[in-house]
Amino acid sequence: MTITTQARPSEATGSIAVVLGTRPEIIKLAGVIQELGPRARVIHTGQHYDDSMSGQFFRQLGLAAPHCVLTGIGGFDRGSQIATAIAALTEEFQRSRPSVVIVQGDTNAVSAGAQAANYLGIPVVHVEAGLRSGDRAMPEELNRLVVGALADVHCAPTNTSRDNLLREGVSPERVIVTGNTVVEATLASIEAARTDPAAAIEDVPDQPFVLATIHRPENTDSEPALRRVLEGLSSIGLPVVLPLHPRTAAAVDRHGLGALLDGLVVLPPVGHASFIWLATRAALVVADSGGVQEECTVLKRPLVVVRRSTERPEAVDAGFARLVRPADDLAAAARGLLEDTRRHPLAEVPSPYGDGTASRRIAEVALALMRQTATNRPIRQGEGAESSA
Ligand code: UD1
Ligand code: UDP
Repeated sequence: MTITTQARPSEATGSIAVVLGTRPEIIKLAGVIQELGPRARVIHTGQHYDDSMSGQFFRQLGLAAPHCVLTGIGGFDRGSQIATAIAALTEEFQRSRPSVVIVQGDTNAVSAGAQAANYLGIPVVHVEAGLRSGDRAMPEELNRLVVGALADVHCAPTNTSRDNLLREGVSPERVIVTGNTVVEATLASIEAARTDPAAAIEDVPDQPFVLATIHRPENTDSEPALRRVLEGLSSIGLPVVLPLHPRTAAAVDRHGLGALLDGLVVLPPVGHASFIWLATRAALVVADSGGVQEECTVLKRPLVVVRRSTERPEAVDAGFARLVRPADDLAAAARGLLEDTRRHPLAEVPSPYGDGTASRRIAEVALALMRQTATNRPIRQGEGAESSA
């Protein structure tokens, strides 16, 4: 691998800024932050701000509090979130210039972090690079395209995501297939769920149940879409446990759909070990989440993905997930997947997302880039991670 960047050598400080803003970024970057050790400078954009969506994950995953938390971002609309975060991150990077900036995934924090760094000439490492749904109505797809244009190093989780980047003209030496850090995050939380009694959830039915999590705008922003999902969940014929994302809680109130929650076991957002505890016991998972699509391949649980499209075809192709579009019957699809899983258990199907070493490989790439920034010489193959999963 040989990578040239726009970084100016004399300005490097020897820190690596990890910019994150939401629940899944904290979960998926915890391993990278731990691998970087004192080099990591964690900057939280404040996009997620409730303790149940942010603070509890820092504590449970053994992370120190962020070095810096931005304000004026959480709860605002998309354009304001990105614009405010770019301005605040620009100030922060000028105050304490990192050698490298790491961003993860497809949220507004990713778009802002990559833009602020790139405009200051600081090299950007994008974790979970190259996913594409093809659906430009998704805010996340646009964020992925923005960071795809700006990143200096693209850490693609799979060959499929690497190929997406190459098709868009990203040069092959900038793309490294690392696997997805969700694998080690899930393995760590399986262990935490096994050993920490606090991970257990008391209200869980003593019979097969469905675990559900819903938060995408396509399922929450309009009353008919949210009604369809909630009625579909109620019709599966099994008890449903629903840790409620704050966006969805607000939408239920706004659309006056509270009665549709009556038959469900509704919980506040739970910690990662608790979510994994629930998922390992669930007969079936129903979600529109990105990370849960990947986690189910590690947990070997069947998953109904309630979405128009998915940027994670690997989980579908491997047989873990089934896409249920708005015109489809959610409850019928759920029952069909349960039946198929009884006939073809998933226990032996390997996860397409790697072997649990992605965080180490990504940290090595970032550290190599930092050393390169200090000397302004290109990274050579073998200094960072290998270029295949
Ligand atoms: C964001 C990401 C999405 C990711 C999800 C993870 C973007 C465009 N969206 O969506 O990709 O899958 O996080 O969960 O970046 N709220 C609270 N408390 C919080 C956080 C949010 O009450 O701690 C409520 C607010 O009403 C807020 C709404 O949820 O307006 C939406 O939050 P926001 O961060 O804008 O989008 P998410 O739907 O969480
Ligand atoms: N998750 C959690 N508690 C919950 C719901 C989800 O810890 O109550 C975890 C889940 O295991 C996964 C991540 O949050 O690791 C997914 O986050 P989310 O669905 O909010 O975002 P996405 O992955 O869709 O971007």
